[in-house]
Formats: sequence, structure tokens, C-alpha cells
Amino acid sequence: MTAFLKKMKPVVESRSDDEAVVTAKGSSQIDTQLHTDDATTAIRIDDFNAYYGAYQALHDISLDVPKNRVTALIGPSGCGKTTLLRWINRMNDIVPTARAVGNISLGDLDVLANSTDVVDLRRQVGIVFQKPNPFPKTIYDNVAYGPRLHLRISRSELDDLVEWSLQKAAVWNEVKDRLHKPALGLSGGQQQRVCIARTIATGPEVLLMDEPCSALDPISTSSIEDLIYELRQQYTIVIVTHNMQQASRVSDMTAFFYQGRVVEFGTTDQIFTRPEQKQTEDYVTGKFG
Ligand SMILES: Nc1ncnc2c1ncn2[C@@H]1O[C@H](COP(=O)(O)OP(=O)(O)OP(=O)(O)O)[C@@H](O)[C@H]1O
Ligand SMILES: [Mg+2]
Repeated sequence: MTAFLKKMKPVVESRSDDEAVVTAKGSSQIDTQLHTDDATTAIRIDDFNAYYGAYQALHDISLDVPKNRVTALIGPSGCGKTTLLRWINRMNDIVPTARAVGNISLGDLDVLANSTDVVDLRRQVGIVFQKPNPFPKTIYDNVAYGPRLHLRISRSELDDLVEWSLQKAAVWNEVKDRLHKPALGLSGGQQQRVCIARTIATGPEVLLMDEPCSALDPISTSSIEDLIYELRQQYTIVIVTHNMQQASRVSDMTAFFYQGRVVEFGTTDQIFTRPEQKQTEDYVTGKFG
């Protein structure tokens, strides 16, 4: 590995940290406590309301998303999970009817301010969608796209970064002999993993994932869950999932949404084993949704 990659991904590549992660993973209850008590806030969502035309999709959302943790957003279809993710990196700017009132901040950055540089925001806040959306370019160029835009690196450093990202996204072995072929020629699950590689290649601080495994087979899903677990050492991750096992496996914190409101937000352990609200309990135990 080059010095450049070591600098960019110090925690992820550190052997001792990897071992620490494996140890922590074996004792999830203690782990949840450890990882939530001392966290600072990465994304502060305050009194946030979102609309499509006259329809209000999100009501009075206030959430402090902790730094270097995985936060799961769960809830029935249509409850506003994607809408919230799309506002955190301003994807809804391109939806003419979409409008928001309230605050979202990322450190000192006012995400919703007109003056915010959206390109820069999206480098800091990467997003992976439910449906893979590779660019109509080669696999290599998909992953190299962000680094070419944002990082000044040599060709060999770029090669290393592309390989690192594809390996982390658990797709390297399947694509290493066809890097210069179109990404759209891959299967859906492979395309999704290339999109994950593309997103992590720019080293975002926050990674938003909207049902990232819904098109993946169980082996790729497990690889992506391992990746999520590992990446939280360095990134703040928000993941939307309909898979309750996945939420309990990968996340530290869970927010349960229902009809555009946050019903309950707490440690994943608490939400799944000691929910305070009846609606939360019914949802996590599969009684509705
Ligand atoms: N572009 C849009 N125009 C109008 N209404 C929209 C638009 N996108 C979403 N909505 C509506 O906003 C509400 C929230 O949708 P959203 O996609 O955020 O839900 P979700 O929780 O992600 O659901 P799912 O689990 O099915 O993905 C829904 O009622 C949906 O129909
Ligand atoms: Mg959605």
C-alpha cells in the first residue's frame, strides 16, 4: 500500500484496529454502550419538516446523529426515510416540488443554506441508493470519478485507491479483469458494490446508505455489513433498512419512523429489546409494516 493510501485510510487499514473491531463485534451489548455514550454529534437535525408540494412527508424531526457510529433508520414504506437522507446531502434540490423548513447541520456547516457549496457537501456526505446507479462509464472510471474531481493524486495512487475501494466493497475479485469495461454490463448486485466503492473512494465523512443490500445476495450482503462495521471507525454512517436483523447486526443507534415522524430513537439494543413505544415494539417484532 502506498503512503498516500495509508494517510487517507489510516484507521481502516490498521491491523490493530481491525482486531479491536473483531473483538468488539463479539460482544454486541457492551459494544453498543461503548459506542454511544461518548459520541459527539456529526449531523444535527433540528425541527426539520419536508414537503412535496402541499404534502408534508416529514414532521418536526429532531435527531442528533452520532459521529463514528452507525445509525439505522427503520419504519414502514412511505414513512419518509429516503426523504430525510435525500435532504442531508441536498439530493432533493433537483425535485421541483420538494421544500424543507428547519435545520440540518454538519459540524459548522448549515446544510440547507443557499450559500452551501453542494458539490463540496456531497464530497463530505456520500450516498448509496437502493437501486444501483453507475455512470455510463467503465468500472475504473466510475470509482476514479470522485478522486479525480476532488483529490490531486498520481495515476499509480489512483490505481491503488480504485483497487482499495473495490476490495472494500467486496467486488474486486469479480471485476479486476474487466476494470475498463462498462459498469452497466455488470449484474445489479455487482453494480451496487461498484457504487459503494465509488462512494467510499472520495473518503466522505458521512455515508448515507438507502437499503444498500436490497439487490444483493446473502454473501455480498454479509460483506457489505462487514464493510459498514469496519468503516464506522472512520465515518459516520446512516443506513436505511427494512431488514431488522441487519439493523440489529450493524447499527449502534436506531430511529423508528412512522408516518413522517420519529416515534423513538435510542441505542439499537434498547429499541430492539426494550422499546418504550408500543408502535416501535409492534414494528420490530413484525406485527405490522
Ligand atoms: N418526488 C416525490 N414527489 C412527491 N411525493 C414524494 C416524492 N418522493 C417521495 N414522496 C412521498 O413522500 C413520502 C415519503 O417517501 P419516502 O420515499 O421518503 O419513504 P420511505 O420511508 O423511504 O419509503 P420506502 O421504505 O418505501 O423506501 C411518501 O408518501 C412518498 O409517496
Ligand atoms: Mg425509501
